[in-house]
Amino acid sequence: PRTAVVIPAAGRGVRLGPGAPKALRALNGTPMLIHAVRAMAASRAVSLVVVVAPSDGAAEVKNLLDAHALPDRTDYVVVPGGETRQESVHLGLKAVPDDITTVLVHDAARPLVPVDTVDAVIEAVRDGAVAVVPALPVADTVKEVEPAERPGGPEQVVATPVRARLRAVQTPQGFDRETLVNAHATVALIGDGATDDAGMVEKLGAPVVVVPGHEEAFKVTRPLDLVLAEAVLARRRA
Ligand code: CTP
Ligand code: MG
Repeated sequence: PRTAVVIPAAGRGVRLGPGAPKALRALNGTPMLIHAVRAMAASRAVSLVVVVAPSDGAAEVKNLLDAHALPDRTDYVVVPGGETRQESVHLGLKAVPDDITTVLVHDAARPLVPVDTVDAVIEAVRDGAVAVVPALPVADTVKEVEPAERPGGPEQVVATPVRARLRAVQTPQGFDRETLVNAHATVALIGDGATDDAGMVEKLGAPVVVVPGHEEAFKVTRPLDLVLAEAVLARRRA
């Protein structure tokens, strides 16, 4: 059974601040996207990586992939992305050939995920799960709030979910290909904005299972995350 990974990398990285699109920013001298592609290709099960590039940056991303050493047991394809993450993943899925049974979706913004996590997700799909998410317990207590009644006013807390039952989910998320393609087709029709791919599968009523995530699979979102990512890379080299 062949496995493909779709890597959405078409975001602007607004929360990271001004500069190049987030996936093209360097971490210790190498673009974040290259770290993410290497993290996926490190798994021997992965035979195809589809990178979803910023819509005006597909040629630049192709050049980047050519310029960096990547395992040659894996094929690499670049497609232009869309306005939203969901749209970008949808465009990436279209480039996955029919003979692929397992599809992973992995954020370029999680460049440091260890290969053991990737393999655990793939294994769970091959063992029969139609959707798999790597997840960690949450450290902070999480509150649900109601928007402020007037602009600038305080938000009102409406609930405190039991922390022990909450999980922070990461990527790569793994899927039976047909299930994910159906979920994307359905969600595109009803136009609902899920913030992850498993969320769309949940809306179809299909079961989603959890495998242990990893601290190093954190998402690079804000400037402090760049500091952490470079420190993790430096520690790996030491
Ligand atoms: N992504 C994408 N296409 C979009 C928006 C996001 O492919 N239109 C990708 C990002 O490149 C990233 C992943 O989805 O790898 C997760 O999104 P996020 O961390 O939110 O990245 P950005 O959208 O780039 O960041 P921000 O929300 O701060 O602008
Ligand atoms: Mg975003």
